[in-house]
Amino acid sequence: MFETPDISHLKAKDYEHVYEPAEDTFLLLDALQKDYAFIQKIRPTLCIEVGCGSGTVTSFVSKLLGSSAHCLATDINGHATLATMKTALQNRQSPDVIQMDLATSFLPRLHGQVDLILFNPPYVVTPSQEVGISDITSSWAGGVNGMEVTNRFLPCVCKLLSTKSAFYMVAVKENKIDKIEQQMLATGLMMEEVLKRNAGPERLFILKFTRIM
Ligand SMILES: C[S@@+](CC[C@H](N)C(=O)[O-])C[C@H]1O[C@@H](n2cnc3c(N)ncnc32)[C@H](O)[C@@H]1O
Repeated sequence: MFETPDISHLKAKDYEHVYEPAEDTFLLLDALQKDYAFIQKIRPTLCIEVGCGSGTVTSFVSKLLGSSAHCLATDINGHATLATMKTALQNRQSPDVIQMDLATSFLPRLHGQVDLILFNPPYVVTPSQEVGISDITSSWAGGVNGMEVTNRFLPCVCKLLSTKSAFYMVAVKENKIDKIEQQMLATGLMMEEVLKRNAGPERLFILKFTRIM
């Protein structure tokens, strides 16, 4: 239904510094498309993608939401924010792209204001020392259980989300999905598995969190 954004402007040289869209990226796009009716129902006016990388997801969601929504995208990696701006231009979208750690600078300003949050985090289990290294390693290095970056963001989700809203996140089996569910339940958000698939050695999941009414 919705086209995958054109990323033909990004070359091998760019992917030395920026995460190249892969199965996880495309599974997130598939989940958003699958949930389109639900997303339309909540009528998002403000959306944030955390860790935007190449900008594929941000351009896709900007198009999906149309002009009634404003999209923000963040990444800690300056090469990624630049790539996201170029991808937006290539696909005639106009998100605001900001280099920052997670979404930290949006709080408390956007408390309870965000209708849609998307995060494909660095989820791979690695030694802790690899987490946050300022190069392409920070695209995948997730430290213990692959959760060291995600665990810093999860407590912000319930603070940012508006009443009618959703948070979509990529995870792998090693991230201990049951534990994530319990952790989010404690903040008033319930979890649903929207999609899952095998990709090489990875068992990928798209998790969706919504407020318990
Ligand atoms: C797995 S990649 C996903 C990229 C893109 N969203 C996609 O789906 O193709 C994870 C992204 O998170 C970014 N990232 C890692 N740590 C971050 C942090 N603390 N704050 C913001 N972005 C971060 C990385 O630079 C990378 O672009």
